[in-house]
Amino acid sequence: PTVLAGRHFLKEVDLTAEEFRGLLALAAELKAAKKAGTETPYLRGKNIALVFEKTSTRTRCAFEVAAADQGAATTYLDPVGSQIGHKESVKDTARVLGRMFDAIQYRGHAQTVVEELAAFAGVPVYNGLTDEWHPTQMLADVLTMTEHCEKPLTDIAYAYLGDARNNMGNSYLVTGALLGMDVRIVAPNSLWPEEPVVRAARELAEASGARITLTEDVKEGVRGADFVATDVWVSMGEPKETWDERIALLGPYAVTMDVLRASGNEDVKFLHCLPAFHDLGTVVGREIHERHGLSELEVTDEVFESPHSVVFDEAENRMHTIKAVLVATLA
Ligand code: CP
Ligand code: NVA
Repeated sequence: PTVLAGRHFLKEVDLTAEEFRGLLALAAELKAAKKAGTETPYLRGKNIALVFEKTSTRTRCAFEVAAADQGAATTYLDPVGSQIGHKESVKDTARVLGRMFDAIQYRGHAQTVVEELAAFAGVPVYNGLTDEWHPTQMLADVLTMTEHCEKPLTDIAYAYLGDARNNMGNSYLVTGALLGMDVRIVAPNSLWPEEPVVRAARELAEASGARITLTEDVKEGVRGADFVATDVWVSMGEPKETWDERIALLGPYAVTMDVLRASGNEDVKFLHCLPAFHDLGTVVGREIHERHGLSELEVTDEVFESPHSVVFDEAENRMHTIKAVLVATLA
């Protein structure tokens, strides 16, 4: 089943809406086959490089398990253990890895780096998160939405609250715009996606019929939503000097039970790409608690642990959807 043979996946708009939906269908098929014990390995003999310049739990494990299920091998290059960017240029690294591997996953800072890798590798390159986009996460999120909502995809409404000037904010805005969904970005104005991203989303929406709202008003933003999503208020690589200001700005955008109630939808579901700072059991959680006296940040423990929360289905779906990307581009 080759639908995207040899293609890169660097950002959501590399795909048409039809191709995006095709990957979701393939992921659902692969998920069902794995659960039934009838999965066919399409990737025997393939080798995939996993280059991480930032840390990861889900993305790394999703690629490794997906590849193993499909008969492919992976090599993990950690944030300090390779020459990339320090002792060797991105362009040279791309050409070296391209000679040995059938595909490359890259997680790092600037989008330009993953674009440069793709330009010189000669094999498919997948963006496993940059400062600008998190496209493999979007496949998992939309698959999770389709599993938890009976409406047709284009009728689904989701509200993303919190830091929207980051990879998740950009990706949620553009993905819903591409797929014709009802997208609400709910954040302080200074943390809305940058103007070029908003413009691109509005252009996509004209073609897809998507409804796009950017608002500072939480109640207005979540009204009628099928899903409420958030992300950490401090992303990887965010300089410490900015933390206090962001946390103060974002306080009113925390996902609480009141926010879920304001959707007016008793079946509303909660999404979070994870990791989440909803308790003090983490190093960052304790640090923020000490500085700000807060024990909960972007989401309360009550919401996170409630039946509304589908975050672990979403995490599992990282693996099934990444497997679909591998199979579609490499089989
Ligand atoms: N959601 C996500 O990308 O998680 P990791 O940072 O653990 O890969
Ligand atoms: N915005 C977060 C997402 C983590 C998966 C970050 O970039 O750290």
